[in-house]
Amino acid sequence: MANNRIKKWWHDKVAYQIYPKSFCDSNGDGIGDIPGIISKLDYLKDLGVDIIWLSPCYCSPLADEGYDISDYYSIDPRFGTMEDMDSLLAEAKKRGMYILMDLVVNHCSDEHEWFKKACEDPDGKYGGFFYLRDKKDGELPTNWRSYFGGPVWEDLPGTDKQYLHVFHKKQPDLNWENPTVREEVYKNINWWLDKGLSGFRIDAIINIKKALPLRNYEPDRADGLCSIQAMLKEAKGIGEFLGEMRDRTFKKYDAFSVGEVFNEKPEEIPDFIGENGYFSSMFDFNETIFGSSDKGWYDAKPITPDDYKRCCFESQAKIGDIGFLSNIIENHDEPRGVSRYIPEGECCTQSKKLLAALNFMLRGLPFIYQGQEIGMENVPFSSIDEVDDISTLDEYQVALNAGLSPEDALNAVAKYSRDNARTPMQWSDGANAGFTTGTPWLKVNPNFTTINAAAQTGDPDSVRSFYQKLIALRKHPEYKETVVYGAFEPVWEDTHNLMAYYRKGDKNLLVIGNYQMAEQTITLPSSYKRILLNNYHDLKENGAELTLKAYQVLILEM
Ligand code: GLC
Ligand code: CA
Repeated sequence: MANNRIKKWWHDKVAYQIYPKSFCDSNGDGIGDIPGIISKLDYLKDLGVDIIWLSPCYCSPLADEGYDISDYYSIDPRFGTMEDMDSLLAEAKKRGMYILMDLVVNHCSDEHEWFKKACEDPDGKYGGFFYLRDKKDGELPTNWRSYFGGPVWEDLPGTDKQYLHVFHKKQPDLNWENPTVREEVYKNINWWLDKGLSGFRIDAIINIKKALPLRNYEPDRADGLCSIQAMLKEAKGIGEFLGEMRDRTFKKYDAFSVGEVFNEKPEEIPDFIGENGYFSSMFDFNETIFGSSDKGWYDAKPITPDDYKRCCFESQAKIGDIGFLSNIIENHDEPRGVSRYIPEGECCTQSKKLLAALNFMLRGLPFIYQGQEIGMENVPFSSIDEVDDISTLDEYQVALNAGLSPEDALNAVAKYSRDNARTPMQWSDGANAGFTTGTPWLKVNPNFTTINAAAQTGDPDSVRSFYQKLIALRKHPEYKETVVYGAFEPVWEDTHNLMAYYRKGDKNLLVIGNYQMAEQTITLPSSYKRILLNNYHDLKENGAELTLKAYQVLILEM
């Protein structure tokens, strides 16, 4: 029974992801910053947020927008200073909030001093921090394709060697087999935890273990390269690294850690997030990876409401009460959830609220990505020149290579572009959506005049107010135990465009969503005691029969 689990401080919390570059700019340079974040803490507190995850704001050339770190112990001047970071920690603490940072240690930046020293002396100490191989004429050490396109090998400047990068060439992979590298990582984590950080979101962690010896795999595209997945499937023993990291760092501080984990095998779940798991939690990506294709984004298949339901239910069943998933609708790597999980043409206030409730009431820790709470949508791209994200630029090329016209290629990648979620936060209907007084680094979504935080704050019918109510329900003294720990039980699973489930603890809650425009009638198995949440002001009932309107969602106490 779930209730017997050892309770952790973070179980009943609500988390919010901030992408610092796009959240709030305090000094008019067009780039969001830490003072900007501090100025919005009260906004987040008012929403009900407890835990804030900051995407990277360390020193970085920003080749992958901060996921390429050149100094793990300092803040990039574009985002502020270490004093700003200290005040953020203090201001958060004052409000009973917790700060997480991003731990990006599969790779560093090619501008990190470790890498520079490796170039100077590839056979010395720092050469051993990376995967270096002798350069051979006309042949790469392996035929793996990097996540952002092209081979994973690049010449090590000034040497006769090459280095491995599974992401961008400005993100050289760190060699975790080297104990000195691991010591450096633990030292860094503990340094931040000593400062008062509450934990980390752990980036791309599944890539730290390479199958050795490095070798070629069967090519899977015309470029003669193969996906990294081929190698990862073979890599054994990541648990030794992760267990060591847990024991040397997080565990001593009772810190929260959430892993960006993909493709775990069901039997590994207890190792990852069970009682003494490597991490406190891991993200559920079952919905985000649905429909993806080995060929590229252009070949991806859209997700329907029934698929969405199946994905959520599958994950819930897989985890059971082994541990806590972290549930997301979107993040900085994904398109906006409302543009993806709501069929085209049906994205509106009611459907946004339905998606919010269906996701929020799942068992696990809810994460909100900045702007999700006001229903921010994908941005229209009129040209590939408007795109900043390296991954989108690569996928555009992949689509062109596959024979798509430039127009079709743009349309195809626009749906999945990471920039959809990276446009500036829409604070108001003022200039640049109130994000900056200068020129925003990435264009503002033109719909900011109607979708913005100022318009929604205080409007009881807004998407934001609905999120506020969902959060309040999760924290309500009477319902908390059930919302946090209650068992998950699907119902009417085969009913088309209906997503419904029970959460059963000391209370019995029934969440029902009519995931379509057309009305739908259902018959309750028993009568309900009260309506805890309804995205309409009314409910059509006839005895046990409920007729749900377009995208109506209910949380009932049975
Ligand atoms: C993770 C991050 C993503 C980044 C990649 C490389 O997937 O979420 O934004 O590009 O790792 O660090
Ligand atoms: Ca700024």
